[in-house]
Amino acid sequence: MRFGTPLTPASTKVMLLGSGELGKEVAIELQRLGVETIAVDRYENAPAMQVAHRSHVIDMTDDAALRALIDAEKPDLVVPEIEAIATDTLAEIEAEGLTTIIPTARATQLTMDREGIRRLAAEELDLPTSPYAFASSEAELQEAADRIGYPVFVKPVMSSSGKGQSKVDAAAGIPAAWDYALASGRTKKTRVIVEGAVDFDFEITLLTVRAKSPEGETLTQFCEPVGHRQENGDYVESWQPQPMTEPAREAAQDVAQKVTDALGGLGLFGVELFVKGDRVWFSEVSPRPHDTGLVTLITQRQSEFALHARAILGLPVDVGLRQYGASAVIYGGVDAKGIAFEGVADALGVPGSDLRLFGKPESYERRRMGVALARGETIEVARERARETASKVRPVSP
Ligand SMILES: Nc1ncnc2c1ncn2[C@@H]1O[C@H](COP(=O)(O)OP(=O)(O)OP(=O)(O)O)[C@@H](O)[C@H]1O
Ligand SMILES: [Mg+2]
Repeated sequence: MRFGTPLTPASTKVMLLGSGELGKEVAIELQRLGVETIAVDRYENAPAMQVAHRSHVIDMTDDAALRALIDAEKPDLVVPEIEAIATDTLAEIEAEGLTTIIPTARATQLTMDREGIRRLAAEELDLPTSPYAFASSEAELQEAADRIGYPVFVKPVMSSSGKGQSKVDAAAGIPAAWDYALASGRTKKTRVIVEGAVDFDFEITLLTVRAKSPEGETLTQFCEPVGHRQENGDYVESWQPQPMTEPAREAAQDVAQKVTDALGGLGLFGVELFVKGDRVWFSEVSPRPHDTGLVTLITQRQSEFALHARAILGLPVDVGLRQYGASAVIYGGVDAKGIAFEGVADALGVPGSDLRLFGKPESYERRRMGVALARGETIEVARERARETASKVRPVSP
């Protein structure tokens, strides 16, 4: 692949579908390599739009709108940043050879639907997972949950970031979980997955990169495991590396290798795993940078965003760790447009700290508006510093 000059006929063009904080960092890495970047999202002034060459506001779940935009822009690569996209249209476009979908259109189809990826992992690849079932009615859900045994997790098959998800401790909680899943699912598709709870010691994201070697072969490489803590299905802090036993590490890499081999293509994947002692369970996978991997902005020689940018362009990557570190999420805390942040200087006064403020035009109380980063001689020190840094940043109404 040759790299052209942006904004000329020979440019190398990449279109990001989804322009949040993860896409923003990918766009910055692409810009550094002289790639023409086009940011797309459903609202104006999304984070990646602020650093891309140009942007478009469309409903990415609208088949005709998505096709028209790709036809008009003719990007070399289309890089999904979110799950809620008309992935069947991406599959048609890929089949017609109009552009390359990252990592593959099939990967975007399988991972946008919990049923697709779970059946692939558990039934085709035989990977260890929680016990699970799918249900399309409250009665089916009740029956499946009783069979699996409580506690269970109930999740809409089309949802992310914990939306519509509940943990149910006893049969009496099922009607509320069903109603909640239906109310917050991404589509009107009335279907949920119900999973038995895995009693894990900790959970990790194993960032896994499929990239070309200098010799042109596709290689699978693994970053150091990222540990993280979730609240209500949403990540609040992460750190790297997460220590684990050698057998667990090998099992985790084996699972990640199998699932990423099956999804194919080039790019970075976030493989979510539960770990207890030497055992691991596959949970889910993102065929793109992962929110918990924001920590790699401070820990790795090449962040997960740099790795993704390089891998999709067919370039070699370096997955090496530079130093121990942690990240802590900064929430909006207020519902308002055009908010301001106070305490930034104080926050950056914390030793070894760094910060990303995403520039989202509108804040909600639980919207992720920024992330604090910190390095440390130990994980404990890094986590403490990241939390302290985050706590000093105060979002305020304009
Ligand atoms: N079967 C399970 N057993 C134990 N914990 C679970 C199970 N399913 C989900 N969880 C907990 O809930 C979190 C969120 O679940 P999951 O990753 O499936 O949801 P999500 O909406 O896709 O979240 P995200 O988009 O943030 O990754 C997990 O990281 C884990 O902490
Ligand atoms: Mg998850």
